[in-house]
Amino acid sequence: MDFENLILEYHDHIALLKINRPKALNALNGETLKELSQAFALIADDTNIRVVLLTGSGEKAFVAGADIAQMSSMNSQQARRFSQLGHNVMNQIENLPQPVIAAVNGFALGGGTELAMSCDLRLASEKAKFGQPEVTLGLLAGFGGTQRLARLVGGGRASEILFTGDMIDAQEAYRIGLVNRVYSQDELMNEAMKLAQKISSRAPLGVQLSKTAIQRGQNMDIVTGQDYEAEVFGQLFSTQDQKEGCSAFLEKRQAIFQGH
Ligand code: CAA
Repeated sequence: MDFENLILEYHDHIALLKINRPKALNALNGETLKELSQAFALIADDTNIRVVLLTGSGEKAFVAGADIAQMSSMNSQQARRFSQLGHNVMNQIENLPQPVIAAVNGFALGGGTELAMSCDLRLASEKAKFGQPEVTLGLLAGFGGTQRLARLVGGGRASEILFTGDMIDAQEAYRIGLVNRVYSQDELMNEAMKLAQKISSRAPLGVQLSKTAIQRGQNMDIVTGQDYEAEVFGQLFSTQDQKEGCSAFLEKRQAIFQGH
């Protein structure tokens, strides 16, 4: 499928998805959000893909936010639909079977921080900047930022970021737990690819069901979450990969997983 604002490449079991709107620092307009939704639907159906790497094209921005030019003339109803479109895409990423790694290569502001937060893991270049500057525009975070940021970094830190609109750098994002790791700009994509390769060498269904258990567990009490965990733990015992993984350990050899 050809996209206007995205580049989708395949590297063995890894899908590399780049947001590619350099003239607007990869800002998310309605068209780009719809293309993201199409791309993730394709990936969800592709059993060969085990991990997704999401980044922004160019050196300057991951995503500089929702498209301000497009939002500037929206009425309330259009803005509500735009927010819902953003939510649908972010939820689609959270509900995708495969894990998604955000490689944050520059500005991740507003919808950019929100997009990164919907991914399972966040790696940042030392040049990355995060923030929710919506209040400087007379708006508020509309793609899930008020919800996911507080869950990730706690209410107090989320309030500071959302109320001031100030940017934070990659080291501060690391300190507060918003990103998993920070690399130099030159190393970022190599390191992100290495992590994607490592995850894609693990039993795919074990990884996918771990993601589902983590995601669902956030909205469950711990006992219900553990019931779900026991259920999917049991499910894995009817897979070939469980037999292969345990046998390989006992036979002191490397396991080769097939994803079934
Ligand atoms: N929407 C639309 N266009 C954008 C954009 C955005 N979010 N961010 C940058 N651009 C465009 C600029 O308008 C500019 O276009 P022109 O060359 O045609 O003038 C181009 O990208 C380059 O940007 P700058 O010249 O501003 O680059 P800079 O290096 O001086 O500054 C920046 C970089 C600090 C990221 C600055 O562009 C900026 O502050 N961008 C806006 C960030 C922002 O406020 N994001 C939140 C949007 S609201 C939101 O996301 C709501 C939500 O949750 C749903």
